[in-house]
Amino acid sequence: MIELNHRERGKPVIELRDLRRTLGEGDTAVEVLKGLNVTISQGEFCSIVGPSGSGKSTLMYLLGALDRADSGQVLIDGQDTKKLGDLELAELRNRKLGFIFQFHYLMPEFSALENVMMPMFKRGVRHSDAAERAHELLSSLGLGAKTHRPPGKLSGGEQQRVAIARALANEPLIVLGDEPTGNLDTSNADNVFAAFDKLVKEKSQTIVVVTHDLDLAARTDRIIRLVDGQVVDDGPTADVMERMRADGIVPLSSHG
Ligand SMILES: Nc1ncnc2c1ncn2[C@@H]1O[C@H](COP(=O)(O)OP(=O)(O)OP(=O)(O)O)[C@@H](O)[C@H]1O
Ligand SMILES: [Mg+2]
Repeated sequence: MIELNHRERGKPVIELRDLRRTLGEGDTAVEVLKGLNVTISQGEFCSIVGPSGSGKSTLMYLLGALDRADSGQVLIDGQDTKKLGDLELAELRNRKLGFIFQFHYLMPEFSALENVMMPMFKRGVRHSDAAERAHELLSSLGLGAKTHRPPGKLSGGEQQRVAIARALANEPLIVLGDEPTGNLDTSNADNVFAAFDKLVKEKSQTIVVVTHDLDLAARTDRIIRLVDGQVVDDGPTADVMERMRADGIVPLSSHG
């Protein structure tokens, strides 16, 4: 029902080449991203970890084509975002990306179900199909009984799950999440990560999430570690975890 982007596991879908971003002006200008080189492939489940202020959100905005780099390149599915105009960027976001940010911007006058249906309407999905898929998604995230409530009658964590369902609605090529489970308890966060894992394995979607929670990062396949605007480690989760442990970074209570 949804026209899927061409899905070829292993093909590069995000390519960063010497990506640099400076924020602020004059005396307060800070080089937040200092030349990142990263390639993420179709069907990868990646987490980005690093201290507060290391540039994770800045990077996510660039990956989401919501901000422009000062120099270097961001290629999304082979397209250099620098060469796209605002309309083309909007089209790219709409067709290929799903976002889950901490402020989820749900539409307050619509129900949870309608919020999840909305992106499908934009893609021309029939009302009954959109309703069915929205219902399935919300149910899989534990909200099956609350689909008709407006966001104002849902808890913060419930709203976050609605936003996650909305981001997944069109089965985007790439799902980007900046602390997508930041408002959720452990069991709901686990549930969401399990849903992500399923999408990666079954639909070859690519998922990139920022998380502070190393137990959650441990559930992804690859960890990219940012410190002070630079990639200091990048590799299979078990390997990066081991190096972080050697550096004393993984809390002892963690079982990743
Ligand atoms: N408009 C701005 N002007 C100057 N510096 C900024 C601006 N916005 C962000 N910064 C700085 O950029 C750096 C990176 O910020 P960013 O939000 O990307 O960090 P982060 O890794 O997402 O942190 P957190 O884990 O706390 O969310 C920070 O040091 C921040 O102070
Ligand atoms: Mg951040």
